[in-house]
This record gives sequence, C-alpha cells and structure tokens, in this order.
Amino acid sequence: MGKRFIDLSWHEFETLDYAEKVPYFNREDRPYHAVVAQQFDRGMLDRLCLLATSIRRIAKTRAGMEFLAGLLAHKRAMLYFSQPSSRTFLSFYAACQILGMNVSEVRDAATSSEMKGETPEDSVRTFSSYVDLLIMRTPVQGFAEKMAWLLSSTERPVPIINAGSGKDQHPTQALLDIYTLQRSFERSGGLENKKIVFVGDLARGRTVRSLATLLTLYPRIKQYFVAPEPLQIGADILRQLDAAGVEYEVTSDFEKVIPLADAIYMTRIQDEWDKDGESKKIDTSRFWFTEQHLGLLKPTGVILHPLPRRQEIAVAVDRDPRAVYWRQVRNGMWIRAALMATIFGRDRDIADYFDSGLA
Ligand code: NCD
Repeated sequence: MGKRFIDLSWHEFETLDYAEKVPYFNREDRPYHAVVAQQFDRGMLDRLCLLATSIRRIAKTRAGMEFLAGLLAHKRAMLYFSQPSSRTFLSFYAACQILGMNVSEVRDAATSSEMKGETPEDSVRTFSSYVDLLIMRTPVQGFAEKMAWLLSSTERPVPIINAGSGKDQHPTQALLDIYTLQRSFERSGGLENKKIVFVGDLARGRTVRSLATLLTLYPRIKQYFVAPEPLQIGADILRQLDAAGVEYEVTSDFEKVIPLADAIYMTRIQDEWDKDGESKKIDTSRFWFTEQHLGLLKPTGVILHPLPRRQEIAVAVDRDPRAVYWRQVRNGMWIRAALMATIFGRDRDIADYFDSGLA
C-alpha cells in the first residue's frame, strides 16, 4: 500500500483532496480499493481495457472459461447493495462468476441488523469478515470511501469496490464507458481529440461526474454539458476540468451540438433525489434524442447511455448501429472482471494465457 490509512482519523482523511487520497487507494500502479474515478491514471485505464479485451476473447472457448474460472476460485465476494440495482448488480455477479469467485449478497438493509440500530459501518465490517472483496452500492455520498478507510485500518483489510455512491461517484460505470468509447473509436483514431457530449441530469448523475473525470486523462478532448439550467453539471467538476486544462462548453442548445459530437452520453432525470417533485416542473423534452436527430449525428458518432432509460432516447434509435448502449452493458461485465482480476494480481496470468495463443 502506498500510504497507510491507519495513520489518519476519518476526518483527517475525508478532508484531503483527491490527489492526496489516491496513494491510499492504489498499490503502486494498480487499484487496491476502487472507490473514486480520480484514482485512475491513463496507464491503468489502458491496461484495464486491454485486459478486458483479453478476458472477452478468452471467454469464447470452454477451455478459456475454465481457465478464467480457476483464477479466483479461492476468493469470495460480497455484493452489498443498499440502493436499487439490477444491471450493475448482475454485471458484477456475472464478472465474479467468470473469475470463479463465490458471491454472497445483501440487497436490503431492512433485512439486516441495521434494523436493530446497528450502524452501517458495523454492518459492513461484519459482512467483510466473511469475504475477500466487498462490492457496495449506497445512497450515501462518501460511504464507500469511509469503508475503505475503516477496513484498511483493521487487522483483516479487504478491498472495496464502489458500485455507485450517492450522487457523486460511479467509477466502474466510468470504466465501462471509457472501454466502450475506446472500442467505438478504434477505427477513427482513438479517444484523443474527440468531442463528448453529456446530456440530461448532469447535476445528480454520478455516472457523468465519474466519466467527465476519467476523460481528462485523454489529450484534447472537448466536453459539452447539455442540460436545463437547474440540472447542469456541478461547479466542482468544471473546476476539475479547468485545473486539467480541459476545454468544455456548458449549454442548453442540444440540437446545436449534435452535429459536432463524436459521442453523445444520454442520461435520465434522477428524480429519486427530488425533494418536492421539482424536476417534474422542468421541460426536459428538449433534451431527448429522437429518431430525427440521427440525421444530424456524424456517421462515426456514437450514442451511449448508462441505463436505465426512460423517454430520453426513442426506442427506434436502438436499431441504428451508432446506438452502442446495449454493447456498453456487456462491456461492463468484461471491464469489471478485468478490475477484479487486477485487484487480486491475476492480470499477468491472463495476459500470459492470451499471449500463449490458447485464446
Ligand atoms: C446508473 C446509476 O445507478 O447511477 N445506473 C447504472 O448503474 N447503470 C444511472 C442511473 O441510474 O440513471
């Protein structure tokens, strides 16, 4: 471990900035905990994408699947999801199965001792005692970070993967988005120099915040944030882009930017965070991608969505080859398997198997 959590109180740790936190989450050049997008550098992303592709190819044969399933057969993972999820939950579940890991789950804090007044920290610490990896989704901002801090200071630390925390972070979604973008631009010069357009609820969409962060690692990308004023991207993300010298534009004119876009990242209105139904009062229909918009989009442009979708992408758009959101879902399984294999140091074995030509 780069730095030791045990030397810091939670408050001391919590108030560090991201650059100072990163050495606690990573071990040398690899993630140990995967909790915030800011902990990944370009080298890590390139290695994870390459590994995801190797896993995807190896998984095509029975012998390959058997090889993969042997890699972490001695490890157990717990999925602790105290916020609704089926796709991310199943994506991790499938990724664990690919690597041969046994999986247990807690999906509803109401069935646990939290109902007896136990703190979530104690609950998660208890669950962690039975497993070697904790994958967690919570509505509470910073909780995954807190558990990484807490568990790393115990005599039996286990790695934590943040599968979505509050409105702030969804780092593994950002990894699969990067992987999807990279694959989409394989034949058009890679991710560098591209124009990426975020649309929808950018104020409360954690996937946007994590992906906007990772995109700062690619040279000359321009980011566009297209939303109605009350749902615009947070000032903290814009400050981060400024600090990284990234070009961006904040606008509410969707039709103007569609023709410029290399990728359009659509998101739904996150009204579960409304206090008083306020987002119902906003006309979001100007931010929906319709079948007519396909005519404005470049031939090499792609449309992504973290899903679930509501009306923001017309179903008719699904048939267009530039709609990559279903592929994006499957990519999630491969990159999550790559992440877990990396956390447990099995990445080299996968690369060796792949290079040996057995795949
Ligand atoms: C996203 C999330 O949970 O933040 N879903 C997902 O994990 N693919 C996006 C959303 O709920 O809108």
